[in-house]
Amino acid sequence: VTAAAPLLFVDAAEVVTCAGPAAARRGAAMADAGVRRGVAVLVRDGRVAAIDAPAALRRDHPDATVVDCAGGVLTPGLVDSHTHAVFAAPRAAEHELRASGVGYLEIAARGGGIHRSVRDLRATPEDTLVADAVARLAVLPRHGVTTIEIKSGYGLSLDAERTQLRAIARVAATIPQRVVPTCLAAHEVPLEFRDRPDGRAEYVRLVAEEILPAVARERLATFADVFCEPGVFTAAEARTVLDAAAAVGLGRKLHADELHDGDGAALAVAVSATSADHLAAISATGIAALAAAPTVATLLPATMLFLGRDRQAPARPLIEAGAAVALATDFNPGTSPTLNLPLVLTLGVSVLHLSAAEALVAATVNGAAASGLADRTGQVAPGYDADLALWGVPDHREIPYWYGAPPCTATWVRGKLVTP
Ligand code: NIG
Ligand code: FE
Repeated sequence: VTAAAPLLFVDAAEVVTCAGPAAARRGAAMADAGVRRGVAVLVRDGRVAAIDAPAALRRDHPDATVVDCAGGVLTPGLVDSHTHAVFAAPRAAEHELRASGVGYLEIAARGGGIHRSVRDLRATPEDTLVADAVARLAVLPRHGVTTIEIKSGYGLSLDAERTQLRAIARVAATIPQRVVPTCLAAHEVPLEFRDRPDGRAEYVRLVAEEILPAVARERLATFADVFCEPGVFTAAEARTVLDAAAAVGLGRKLHADELHDGDGAALAVAVSATSADHLAAISATGIAALAAAPTVATLLPATMLFLGRDRQAPARPLIEAGAAVALATDFNPGTSPTLNLPLVLTLGVSVLHLSAAEALVAATVNGAAASGLADRTGQVAPGYDADLALWGVPDHREIPYWYGAPPCTATWVRGKLVTP
């Protein structure tokens, strides 16, 4: 077997490297996306091998296949570090209901929301879940995305969570992008437990003592996640679940302080979670906790927009306090039916007041850190997987600028071309 010829990326107006330590950028360091001009990038065996003057790389690697970047911008492939991309059906009726004034948690209390998606998923064959997700995810190269985290959480029983996680594994084996699987069995208390007197505690026990150990044993997930929110899981319940996750070797993530402050950020730090996500209602104490810990603050502005809420996560105070901020889509059928991560970058700039460089860092190196992949993807740097996105614009600030219509022209995953 002969190795494929190296690739030499030339004539990019800018290479946004995001290069540096294999960890999230925090605070003021988020402003430096490592933008370089006048350089070429050599890729060998699926990894970035060198970034250097084009003439030198051409001379030393005459065998390389030249990739013409045509005056565009080359960036790390984007990392969408928070999605619920495997689900059975859309929930368009709820979108209208909310517009008429019915709240998200009220719809959930009526048996809609997550409960609706649970009913839908349990009634759908695994093959259909896989095929539908693969079809949806075909847009990823158009959005420059090369890594995507996908959560379960619409099964809410040992069998149905297993089915959903198996579907995620099959999606991962089918699509060219890298997939990070997360078990979100603690997404809601399922209706069949709600009606029992001690049902909440019983379900928390089921998740902690049966579902997470089985998921870890069968290697169906890298992370466990909990929806910590008044009316869903309390901080104490979330703690029980996350401690159980740690005990079986799963990483921790948390849906924290989304609609109300419930000390979710502090809890995420206390259990050494890799990320605390949402945070639209985070307190000053929560901001201070994230500023002093490695836990990444993953913000999901498309969700707040789609829910029609005015409140957004305090991105600037988080960054100014020294926290590491990531941006993700939260793609799901209820609160964020979009896979358009560049649109989330637009919201990052227009609504969260990030600079374009901060937004790009948030969706590359920091998204990778939020996915436990800071040493493999999210940077154009020697040794990193050649996960790349090429944008047909001459200035990286135009990536969030052309909102709704991302100018991505091609992506590469581990050096393999994946075109829109
Ligand atoms: O991240 N907040 C909880 N989970 C999802 C919503 C899932 C749903 O409504 O189906 C979220 O917004
Ligand atoms: Fe979510």
